[in-house]
Amino acid sequence: MSLDYFHDETFRNDYTFRNSPRAIKRFPFPFPEDDYMYSVNMEPHVPGRPGSVFEHTFDVDEHYVSEMRDRAQVLAQDPLRCQSLPHMTLAGWDLLELIMESFARDYPQWFSLTKDGNHWHWINRPLNIDQKFTFLDDTTLPCGPMEYITRQAQGDFTLQDQRDDTLWIEAGMVTTQADWSLDFDIGMSFHEWHAPVPVAHELGVFDRALKFLLALQHGAPVRRFNWTMTVDPLLDTSPENYPKWGPGKTTLTPENIGARQHLRVELQTLFRLPRSNAIVFPIRCYLISFQDLVTQPKWARRLHRVVRGLPEELATYKGFIRNRPLMLEYLSQFDDGQPTSPGW
Ligand code: HEM
Repeated sequence: MSLDYFHDETFRNDYTFRNSPRAIKRFPFPFPEDDYMYSVNMEPHVPGRPGSVFEHTFDVDEHYVSEMRDRAQVLAQDPLRCQSLPHMTLAGWDLLELIMESFARDYPQWFSLTKDGNHWHWINRPLNIDQKFTFLDDTTLPCGPMEYITRQAQGDFTLQDQRDDTLWIEAGMVTTQADWSLDFDIGMSFHEWHAPVPVAHELGVFDRALKFLLALQHGAPVRRFNWTMTVDPLLDTSPENYPKWGPGKTTLTPENIGARQHLRVELQTLFRLPRSNAIVFPIRCYLISFQDLVTQPKWARRLHRVVRGLPEELATYKGFIRNRPLMLEYLSQFDDGQPTSPGW
């Protein structure tokens, strides 16, 4: 595929973001059932069907170039969206290696990595980058290794150090988040940063998830889905910028909800890193408008039922309790009451 594959689009102001018919078809619809409740929904991150978002270790899609431009804009306004405590630099190199090797292997038409010992040559054609550097030598890159590579990779990334039988969030690049703040959370432990989540603690979800993650092995990554709702195709729904995007939630109407309400799906993966023993948590965000989603009848039916049955605490935490009646009114038109089958 040539460089024409990438859209020139915006995730702010005039919102020119659009999914092509192909992107709609491969959208990672996250609901295997008509009901939703928090669970330890992790599975091995193994290659999936060709063309699906699971085909490769990291999915590079038609929004790549524009998402990277949006990230650069967020960072220019708020450099604290990217932070790395001093002991996390080695984990940053581990991450750089993982992304460069994966991209070059899976998308050789766009990326290449050549190595002569520790002398590496990285070419990123879509972003027009050609960089020679010395692996593990911080002075040879224009910025730290985590920042360098995550300015070139879609989705947010956090790096967790493991000690005292827990994980500590101690570095990250977070510009496309669902209303949480790296600057607030940095230095917290697994249970501390998850404290605001309702219901899941009582169900033991976080105790079990942490136990699982502490035993995560290098070379055996896992994945899970998370989801929420976003009005307008906005990547940066951060608490820092809440005054800019929060009020938009009060302007939905029956006429504009199909175009403006988006299902926001996060494909979250977890990898143990080889040198630092840290865990990287890439959080890849996919947006789809309701009007595009309902072109797939089984998704429309199921989303209606999930939104209708979602416990109030979850709809409140996810920030759409106010608009739930409008969503149900819209989605109910596409639910014929037929049973749905388990799975996607
Ligand atoms: C929410 C980070 C792994 C389950 C969150 C939030 C953050 C976060 C920052 C938002 C909390 C807030 O409201 O401020 C992370 C990081 C992880 C990780 C850095 C990697 C180590 C997991 C795993 C699970 C999980 C393995 C598996 C059960 C959840 C759930 C929510 C949540 C259920 C609520 C999401 C929602 O309803 O939208 N996580 N998480 N997390 N996390 Fe994690």
